[in-house]
Amino acid sequence: MSHPEYTVRRARTSDVAAIRTLIEPLVAERILLGKERVVFYESVQEFRVAEASDGTLIGCGALHVMWEDLGEVRTLAVAPAWLGTGVGRALLERLEADARELGLSRLFCLTFEVSFFTRNGYGEIGEGVIDPEIYSEMVRSSDEGVAEFLDLARVKPNTLGNSRMLKRL
Ligand SMILES: CC(C)(COP(=O)(O)OP(=O)(O)OC[C@H]1O[C@@H](n2cnc3c(N)ncnc32)[C@H](O)[C@@H]1OP(=O)(O)O)[C@@H](O)C(=O)NCCC(=O)NCCS
Repeated sequence: MSHPEYTVRRARTSDVAAIRTLIEPLVAERILLGKERVVFYESVQEFRVAEASDGTLIGCGALHVMWEDLGEVRTLAVAPAWLGTGVGRALLERLEADARELGLSRLFCLTFEVSFFTRNGYGEIGEGVIDPEIYSEMVRSSDEGVAEFLDLARVKPNTLGNSRMLKRL
């Protein structure tokens, strides 16, 4: 996906440092979930990044597969100077295209950015979107995001004030 001023592309391992710098303030404010550096390398294939024409990394976002039909948009962030210029939407559209390619039909997001996601076709959801049989298998995941999706007690401090949102692709 190419725009006159920036490009959205697959992340490389050499982007990890810049991704961490970009999200650091958001992690400090507890807007995004912080992760160890090794986890970023392990999940680099989930990431798309937006790069300005001068090579600066100005945005990132990841798609995490959670079940046969279900994925999560996570770590979506845009650099302050670029907010409100369409970079977030461009990244989200790319992650959604990735999700369709993988055969997913539902995308979850846990966020404070309710109006952004609503404008992009997500709706707020309550409990019980997963049937009990699948829940009992998903609960075995060691992934924090999956625990947040399932709304497990141990991650409640992370999810406080966030909205649970879902889009059908
Ligand atoms: C959510 C987030 C990624 C959105 O990024 P963004 O790049 O600002 O998003 P967009 O620019 O695509 O859309 C935001 C606004 O810009 C507007 N916009 C889009 N393209 C535009 C353009 N070319 N020129 C001017 N405005 C534009 C959109 O219409 C929207 O405006 P609105 O709020 O009045 O409807 C960003 O706010 C962020 O980093 N938030 C913190 C992290 C977070 O909470 N992430 C989500 C959970 S993973």
